[in-house]
Amino acid sequence: MLDSTFLTPQQIVQELDKYIIGQFEAKRNVAIALRNRWRRMAAPLEIQKEIAPNNILMIGATGVGKTEIARRLAKIADAPFTKVEASKFTEVGYVGRDVESMVRDLAEQAVSLVRSQRKEAVKDKAAEAVEDIILDILIPPLKDSSSSKKQDKNNYTIPIDQSDKVLNENTRDLFREKLKRGDLDERKIEIDVKHFSNVGMGIVSPGGMDDASMMNIQEMLGSIIPKQHKKRKVSIADARKILLDEEVSKLIDMDEVKEEAIKRAENTGIIFIDEIDKIAGNHKSSGGPDVSREGVQRDLLPIVEGSAVSTKYGIIHTDHILFIAAGAFHFSKPSDLIPELQGRFPIRVELNKLTQKDFVEILQTPKNALTKQYEALLAAEGVTLSFNEDAIEKLAEIAFEVNNDMENIGARRLQTVMSHLLNEFLYDVPEIITPNAHIIITKEMVETRLVGLIKNKDLSQYIL
Ligand SMILES: Nc1ncnc2c1ncn2[C@@H]1O[C@H](COP(=O)(O)OP(=O)(O)OP(=O)(O)O)[C@@H](O)[C@H]1O
Ligand SMILES: [Mg+2]
Repeated sequence: MLDSTFLTPQQIVQELDKYIIGQFEAKRNVAIALRNRWRRMAAPLEIQKEIAPNNILMIGATGVGKTEIARRLAKIADAPFTKVEASKFTEVGYVGRDVESMVRDLAEQAVSLVRSQRKEAVKDKAAEAVEDIILDILIPPLKDSSSSKKQDKNNYTIPIDQSDKVLNENTRDLFREKLKRGDLDERKIEIDVKHFSNVGMGIVSPGGMDDASMMNIQEMLGSIIPKQHKKRKVSIADARKILLDEEVSKLIDMDEVKEEAIKRAENTGIIFIDEIDKIAGNHKSSGGPDVSREGVQRDLLPIVEGSAVSTKYGIIHTDHILFIAAGAFHFSKPSDLIPELQGRFPIRVELNKLTQKDFVEILQTPKNALTKQYEALLAAEGVTLSFNEDAIEKLAEIAFEVNNDMENIGARRLQTVMSHLLNEFLYDVPEIITPNAHIIITKEMVETRLVGLIKNKDLSQYIL
């Protein structure tokens, strides 16, 4: 993978192009925002603190790539990423402080990101340790290192027979090889598993108590209740996994991980706030649900503006987190948001409606294109799947028509259309369509399977 720290805006767009078709404006702006963070970090300290992130508001109908762009961007940046639906905060039972949970989620993501990177670094070392543990269980070493002596039943110390020792070591070497080859994976051994006893301790948050205090209580309880050791009989293959986790934890300094995670969340974190249009109330009509919507906006404000949020890993300052908000804005406009919040999302990008031609491309070119996904699924059964060019065109045309005739759900429509098209094949493999078969999807096939269906509106409403 490319080193994301040095990706230029153009390179970021190129990376995004591998997954998202069109939407150049949106890609360009998120790329600039990402590069600006790196630029900011390289700026002199006094000015660094002043530079605010370029929060972005993406406006576009459903299924045109808003979430996909943000998600891929985070991947490219190797940045902690979390996504929330703004509308969830307007639901019944919402308490003000809940909005901060998005920052806690981000902290959680950052910790798991950093932890998995650290894990990668110590994995080999941990695996070696695990091998030693398993080997010791299978063929315990002769304990003679200090004195080269052992005691007989009368407590007289007698020298270990050197040949015993050689035999023991040779056997261990032999088994080490077998272990490495995986020859012993099926064999059962008994291992010591540290296990955290929290049976029957599901804590129900009392109303009014926020997540942070709840987490502290849980952590406190965790440290009071002793970890229990438990013997478990498992296969060597499973033992490897269980023990590897434990060894990795021993080798990773969690305090360092937390510290680094907080730093990453603060400086490179991306929070994606979806459905922001659903909390944009119309100022003129007061009362009713608008009050709670505006309330959510007011709660969001300090977070987006920069505040300190306490998380289980430490305090996170949100000043330099990149916020990307998105919404369809069918029933409200960005100007319906409270002015303070509008000001915090200075970059507006509109995503285009996808065309039939875009659909053709989306079906086949992205790295995760639907056709590639189904080809891989069937390849797992030894069956080759391929699509004729005119079949793809027909599929795109049908998806486009269904979007026009019914609800426009963007590229998501391709999924329902494709799944309906391939349903029977997926069922017939491997009994009727046997391995080594080659399924070629033709235009005619698409027509016979789908055209009848789209003509019957009542039916297609449910199926497509
Ligand atoms: N421009 C695009 N290029 C490639 N694939 C796309 C594009 N737009 C959408 N898709 C596909 O459609 C799916 C849905 O898109 P996405 O989740 O980005 O929608 P959205 O714009 O966030 O919609 P919503 O407003 O409903 O959240 C994606 O998982 C992706 O596979
Ligand atoms: Mg979305």
